[in-house]
Amino acid sequence: MAGVTDASYRQLIKAIAPETIVYTEFLSTDAIHYGAKKTMEMINFDSEVERPFVVQVFGKEPEHFLTAAKVIEQMGADGIDINMGCPAAKVVSSCHGSALIRNPQLAQELVYATKKAVSIPVSVKTRLGWDTKDSLIPFCQGLIDAGAEALAIHGRRYCDKFGGKADWDPIYELKKAVSVPVIGNGDIFSAQDAVEKIGNLDGVMVGRATFGNPWVMRDIVDALHRNAVPELPSVKTIPFEEKVPLILMHCELAVRTKGERKGMLEMRKHLASYVKGFDGASEMRQRLVLVETIDDVKAILG
Ligand SMILES: Cc1cc2nc3c(=O)[nH]c(=O)nc-3n(C[C@H](O)[C@H](O)[C@H](O)COP(=O)(O)O)c2cc1C
Repeated sequence: MAGVTDASYRQLIKAIAPETIVYTEFLSTDAIHYGAKKTMEMINFDSEVERPFVVQVFGKEPEHFLTAAKVIEQMGADGIDINMGCPAAKVVSSCHGSALIRNPQLAQELVYATKKAVSIPVSVKTRLGWDTKDSLIPFCQGLIDAGAEALAIHGRRYCDKFGGKADWDPIYELKKAVSVPVIGNGDIFSAQDAVEKIGNLDGVMVGRATFGNPWVMRDIVDALHRNAVPELPSVKTIPFEEKVPLILMHCELAVRTKGERKGMLEMRKHLASYVKGFDGASEMRQRLVLVETIDDVKAILG
């Protein structure tokens, strides 16, 4: 997730739920092609901790996908995922993200160019469709013919943006029609949601539920392994005091990967999410969004 799943966040999630597959934020293939410093830094990862590690990319130039894919493989990633689902106006107006659903020919060319360049798996993350769900299976079959080896589907159309409820039924139908792994995504906020929704799919992808609550990943992974929902989700029973060491670890990882100034600036939004719903949260949040050092955080949480 853009602005969220940087190296520190991915490492935190791996510490909590080691079986998780972690993805980068979506990165521009144009920027990687031209070697833009900021984007190149965003591909850096801890190869001891962040495995399997998938780099997600977006763009529209097949040539740039080809060079970007080679760079990503050389940097040691385990997979490349192509974003064909982002509905943001800025992204879609450039013919990136969800816009590719309306341009299946180009979407296939991008997959083909990427797969031609590398031997690591290439997957696509997309939505149910643009304004209809009927295009999902033919669109995905085209991607598979072009070389896509796995699919992750967010159960909303482009036109839904983030509104309404995710519809997983078309994703189950897609899985019946194709032979590659299919991962479902959308509105998983608990272990119970994951167990109820996984159906015939190969995995679930979790986004927003982890904001301020990365512990939910442990419950989800445990529940999927046992195919049973815990009677009382453990995240609900972890006292805040027990969460503090992991919150501080997140700060340390942010400082280690981005330096103190930038790392702590970026931590502010996470810190505000961590205290959501607790007694005195709003007063604590006002102080947490001003922190500059880990010691500031310790003083407030302490
Ligand atoms: C802040 C934010 C950033 C996101 N960035 C990305 C991204 O870079 N790539 C991507 O495939 N999806 C991105 N998404 C979409 C999520 O991956 C996911 O498809 C969507 O939030 C639905 O899943 P959820 O209900 O588990 O959050 C983003 C979502 C949010 C809220």
